Amino acid sequence: MKTHAIADFIYCLHADINSPDLFEGIWPIPEGVSLNCYAVKGEKIALIDLVRDWADAPGQLEADLSALGLDFNVVDYLILNHLEPDHSGWLRAFRERNPRAEIIATAKGINLVKSFYKIETGLRAVKDGDTLDLGNGKTLQFFETPNIHWPETMVTWEPLSGTLFPCDAFGSFGALGVFDREHPRSRVFDDEFTEAEHAFFEKETLRYYANIVSSFSSFVERAVQKLGGLDIRCVAPSHGLVWRKNPQTIIQRYLKYASYAKGNAEKEISVIWGSMYGSTKEGVDAVIRGIEAEGVPYSLHRVPDENVSYVLADAYKSSGIVLAMPTYEYAMFPPMAYVLDIFRRKHITGKKVLRIGSWGWVGGAKKEYDAAMESLKWTGIEPLEWAGSATPEELKTLEERGRELAKLIKT
Ligand code: FEO
Repeated sequence: MKTHAIADFIYCLHADINSPDLFEGIWPIPEGVSLNCYAVKGEKIALIDLVRDWADAPGQLEADLSALGLDFNVVDYLILNHLEPDHSGWLRAFRERNPRAEIIATAKGINLVKSFYKIETGLRAVKDGDTLDLGNGKTLQFFETPNIHWPETMVTWEPLSGTLFPCDAFGSFGALGVFDREHPRSRVFDDEFTEAEHAFFEKETLRYYANIVSSFSSFVERAVQKLGGLDIRCVAPSHGLVWRKNPQTIIQRYLKYASYAKGNAEKEISVIWGSMYGSTKEGVDAVIRGIEAEGVPYSLHRVPDENVSYVLADAYKSSGIVLAMPTYEYAMFPPMAYVLDIFRRKHITGKKVLRIGSWGWVGGAKKEYDAAMESLKWTGIEPLEWAGSATPEELKTLEERGRELAKLIKT
């Protein structure tokens, strides 16, 4: 079996997860996700991050260890950068296989080891800057990077190879073997993937960031600043590609995504719409004519047909948003209310937005929408609601509103 060496003493081990399960029980992963772990060999052996018992992840990990002539029971230190169970769920079984390995995490991480897994012994809490001597000149160092994306998170640094192990940070959705169904465990490094394959992972990185990390963008910026003095030659996250050729690509990509949260999103418009019988859709078409006339790129997302995970990703990266929905039972169209609730929870703030929609007997979306908008800190241009089918005059106004929003995005 092929091994994936970052250096002659550091190896990437990974499990490709192809499962109908939702990631975190919320986010769809139709193209899978990878769970990466790393073995670092000095006189002692460290395993960095673990897996959960999911789609035979422990079996895949064991096969990779075996290809290196290793097994779980030779591990001296298990380093847990982050305790979310995708990276720790198999911990009790690991401990049964190897009772002597010391488990290393931040103090908050150790608390989670105790609460999640009821393990009380063989634990070591590390602080910012602490080191772990593996012998043979190999040392690991730990830096606390809280809230990327849980409070206990840290990164591990290996100075000889310049490898950063940041766990969730710099990760993405998408199984590493998604393009290699025959040999799904053959590639992990950025330089082993084609441009088209990179385009796929870039899209899945944005979706992962918007879904998992976006609320913590200021912490991403803080962490990158904190780690700025390191000569990072490889970024080895626990999801997605291992960046040994162009580590700055993924670091800069994350910084760009973090800046979206501060109002620096792309000059694009995300059109999110729902329609019961086509009246609101007529209005959407008119708005799009206006956007197209101004030449601003846009994306279309119909709810509830499209999962909110994808809607969130596009909305996060767009400066402008069109929300088009009918009134439903005197309030917002429920699938749109759900989308806005997710936006609120994920702090999708600072957007320029146009709301439109039709009503049958009476309007009612406005009141609920206005309350949502206040917490989102969005800037609205004048909305338009209409009764039943839009009149030619209303369609003309809708087109004009589309142009207005597009012009606002361009400035
Ligand atoms: Fe990949 Fe926050 O766990």
